[in-house]
Amino acid sequence: MNFQFTEEQLMIQQAARDYAQRELIQDVIERDEKGIFPTKHIKALGELGFMGMMTSPDYDGGGMDTISYVLAMEEISKIDASCAVVLSVNNSLVCYGISTYGTEEQKQKYLRPLARGEKIGAFLLSEPEAGSDATSQRTTAIDKGDHYLLNGTKNWITSANSASTYIVIAQTHTEKKHKGINAFIVEKDSSGITLGPHEKKMGMRSSDTHSVMFNDVKVPKENRIGEDGFGFKFAMKTLEGGRIGIASQALGIASGALERAVQYSKERKAFGTEIFNHQSVAFKLADMATDIDAARFLCLHAAWLKDQHLPYGIASAKAKLFAAETAMRVTTEAVQIHGGYGYVAEYHVERLMREAKLTQIYEGTSEIQKIVISRDLIS
Ligand code: CAA
Repeated sequence: MNFQFTEEQLMIQQAARDYAQRELIQDVIERDEKGIFPTKHIKALGELGFMGMMTSPDYDGGGMDTISYVLAMEEISKIDASCAVVLSVNNSLVCYGISTYGTEEQKQKYLRPLARGEKIGAFLLSEPEAGSDATSQRTTAIDKGDHYLLNGTKNWITSANSASTYIVIAQTHTEKKHKGINAFIVEKDSSGITLGPHEKKMGMRSSDTHSVMFNDVKVPKENRIGEDGFGFKFAMKTLEGGRIGIASQALGIASGALERAVQYSKERKAFGTEIFNHQSVAFKLADMATDIDAARFLCLHAAWLKDQHLPYGIASAKAKLFAAETAMRVTTEAVQIHGGYGYVAEYHVERLMREAKLTQIYEGTSEIQKIVISRDLIS
C-alpha cells in the first residue's frame, strides 16, 4: 500500500474541501434545523463529478479510484454529512451496483444519468421487520411472465423522495429463502408507489428519509439485476463497498469535530490561559487525533484493496466499525471541550455528534460489522 497520494487524488480532495468549506457550510445549520434537502448542492456536486466518482467515463462517470472517494467523502462529511450520505448511496450502492452487475441496457438507461448527477439513486433493502436480519425480506416480487409484480414496504430509505431510480430488494421464491431474493431497478414514478412522511430524525436531518410502499407495482423483466435469485448476494456485495462510503463519512464527521475542537481550544481561555494548555483538554485532543488517524488508515486500506481488485468485505466492515465508534467518541469529546457552547447549533459540534450516531446504525449496525468480522475469524 502506497502511503503517498497521487496528484490527482490530492486535487480531488482539494476540490471537495473547497466546495464544502465555501458552499456547503453556508446553509448547513438552517438545512439541518428545517430538514431541507440539499438540492442545489447535490446538483453542483454532480457537475463537479462527485455523484458518479468511480463509475467508468464510458457511462459518464469520473473514473476515479476508491482512495479518491474516501478523501472526498471525508471532506464533505466534515461540513455536511447529510449531503455526504446522498453521495455515498448514489456512488457506492446504486452506481456501483448497476455498473458491476447490470446489463448494457440498464447501464445506458439508468447508470448514465445517475453518474452525471442528473438523477439520484436510492437503495431499498431495509423493511419494518428486516433491518439487520436482511434475509427476512417480506416485500415480494412475483414473476408474471413479462414483468414482476412488487408488493410490500421498505423502511428508512435515504433519498426516497429525491431519488428517481430505486434499487429494490424483494423476495420472489419464498421457499428458497435468501436464494429466492432478487434485486430490481424500479422507477420511482411507477404507478403503485407511495411514500410515508418525511422521518423526523435525530441527525442527518436534511437527507430525506421515508418509508416506501409498493402496491402492485409492475417492474419490467429486463429490470432485474443479475440471474434469478442473485438479489441477496447482490445486496451483500454492494454493501461491502457502501460500508467504505459510510466509514469515510464517519471519519469526516470525526475529523470535522476535531478541527473545531482544536480551533476552539486555541481561542477559549480559562484559568488564565488558552484551554489547550490544560492537560484535561490536550490529552483529549491527542486521543481524538490518534483514533482519527487509525480510522483513516482503515478506510484507505479497504479502499486500496478494492482498487487492487482484492477481497475487501472484511476490511470495509472493520473500517466502518472503527470509524463509526471513533466518530461517536470524538464528537462527544468535542462537545465536552466546547462546554456550554458545544451544546448550541452555532458551534456545529452538537450536530456532528447527532450525525455520528447514525453511522453506528445504517449500512449495518456496529454489531453487524462485528458479526461479519468474527465469522471471518472463525471460518
Ligand atoms: N458477499 C457475498 N455473499 C455473501 C456475503 C458477501 N459479503 N455475505 C453473505 N453472503 C451470502 C452467504 O455466503 C450466504 O450464501 P449461501 O447460502 O449461498 O452460502 C448468504 O449470503 C446468506 O449469508 P448468511 O448466512 O451469512 O446470512 P445471515 O442471515 O446470517 O446475515 C448479515 C448476514 C451479514 C448479518 C447480513 O444480513 C447483513 O449484512 N445485514 C445488515 C444489512 C444492512 O447492512 N442493511 C443496511 C441497509 S442499506 C442502507 O442503510 C443504505 C442507506 O440508506 C444509507
